[in-house]
Amino acid sequence: MSFFQKRRSRPAVLLALAAAALIAGCAQEGGDPVQTDPAPQSTVQAPSIDTASASSDTASTAPESDAPGSDVPYVPTSPKTVARMLEMAEVTSQDTVYDLGSGDGRIVIAAAQQYGAHGVGIEIDAELVKKARKNAKEAGVADLVTFRQGDLFNADLSGATAVTLYLLPSVNMKLRPKLMRELEPGTPVVSHDFDMDDWEPDRTVQLNGDTVFRWTIPEARPDGSTGE
Ligand SMILES: C[S@@+](CC[C@H](N)C(=O)[O-])C[C@H]1O[C@@H](n2cnc3c(N)ncnc32)[C@H](O)[C@@H]1O
Repeated sequence: MSFFQKRRSRPAVLLALAAAALIAGCAQEGGDPVQTDPAPQSTVQAPSIDTASASSDTASTAPESDAPGSDVPYVPTSPKTVARMLEMAEVTSQDTVYDLGSGDGRIVIAAAQQYGAHGVGIEIDAELVKKARKNAKEAGVADLVTFRQGDLFNADLSGATAVTLYLLPSVNMKLRPKLMRELEPGTPVVSHDFDMDDWEPDRTVQLNGDTVFRWTIPEARPDGSTGE
């Protein structure tokens, strides 16, 4: 089930749904290789955190983020999609995974649990940051992950070797120049459900009604532009 199906009652989100559907339609019609994956055989186990709100079936009852400055409501990614996002980002123990808008911390906690990676979650909602820290402790990975409370647009992303997103199309678009500026060429960027308009994904996977896109930050172009 997609983000917006879960948030059907919010008029602002419905507007964005129309935009997202248009964009998604365009991306797929453009001939990107889309891998449909109805029954993923991931070797990665679901993170053992907060099972009360971890499943996409229970996502609609998850608390909303009304934090001042929030650009996106809180809707957690399902464990299977988290696993697929990390797989598509090719996370290893050498990585530092940044989740921008980290919610209850599940993506970076899963990266630490399953791959031994370091993780940084940036989250604007102080209550969710508290919850993420508690979840990390309970998952036994508090030494590998850090949660910072603040606006993702003000965060320094230069320490990231992989980035995960579950935001909105408009937020992804606003983020593009920052990703290009602050991430090293070769850094994977993986987004749940929302694309980056005319940035061509390397890979697109569909599973259980979710779509996951993967891009790789390119080298600067010979003319010095960054392809933003
Ligand atoms: C759809 S949820 C995704 C949560 C988590 N990444 C996941 O996939 O389970 C988006 C999150 O972004 C946070 N958020 C929204 N605007 C933000 C901003 N400007 N800076 C940091 N976090 C933000 C929300 O509070 C929410 O927790």
